[in-house]
Amino acid sequence: MEKQKKVLIAPSVLSADFSRLGEEVVSVTAAGADLIHVDVMDGHFVPNITIGPVVVLGIRKSTSLPLDVHLMIEEPWRYFDEFIKAGSSIITVHSEVCSLDSLRKMRHRADEAGVRFGISINPETSVEVLREEVLKIADMILVMSVHPGFGGQKFISEVLPKIKFVRQRFSGDLEVDGGINRETAPAVISAGANVLVAGSFVFGQKDRQAAIESLRL
Ligand code: DX5
Ligand code: ZN
Repeated sequence: MEKQKKVLIAPSVLSADFSRLGEEVVSVTAAGADLIHVDVMDGHFVPNITIGPVVVLGIRKSTSLPLDVHLMIEEPWRYFDEFIKAGSSIITVHSEVCSLDSLRKMRHRADEAGVRFGISINPETSVEVLREEVLKIADMILVMSVHPGFGGQKFISEVLPKIKFVRQRFSGDLEVDGGINRETAPAVISAGANVLVAGSFVFGQKDRQAAIESLRL
């Protein structure tokens, strides 16, 4: 069996105290986070509106960690360059709203800018959309383990076979997002994920270093 990759933890700032966003980012950076996960929502693709490029730019100034920018928006292509300029290190778009052609266009732009490119699927989306041509253009696949839109939801365990399916066919980073905590992380890791997003679990605890460490086990 292939050796398990190192597990990376990406706290989602969606659960941070936005009145002190910079300090919150500094806090999880000091606590040992590997990436900062930034949830961008447009009120169309998901029933919530969060943040845009100007806030990503602010976060960029608060940490030297890679910014893992998750675009839950209907027309990611229209805003792709803005998020590159804002300092994203990896930009993930949703398979539900992208043709193969537009995925290829964004892959190309990401390459030109030296940014990594991720493709995500929702819990109700069949893994069949992640066919070989799609996997080939992704640096990272993000499997959603809650319905996107809000932090603090319950992990949907039916996605575990989906994580295994992707891991059997894809050797890049495999990220799982939604409802990750000390109880759900082990199954996600053994299914093959190596990047765990955790919002409410990390930001909800006083000792964020212990929270982050507990997810790696
Ligand atoms: C949900 C977002 C997640 C969310 C995770 O739409 O994509 O990144 O912030 O939050 P928790 O870890 O609280 O489920
Ligand atoms: Zn996310």
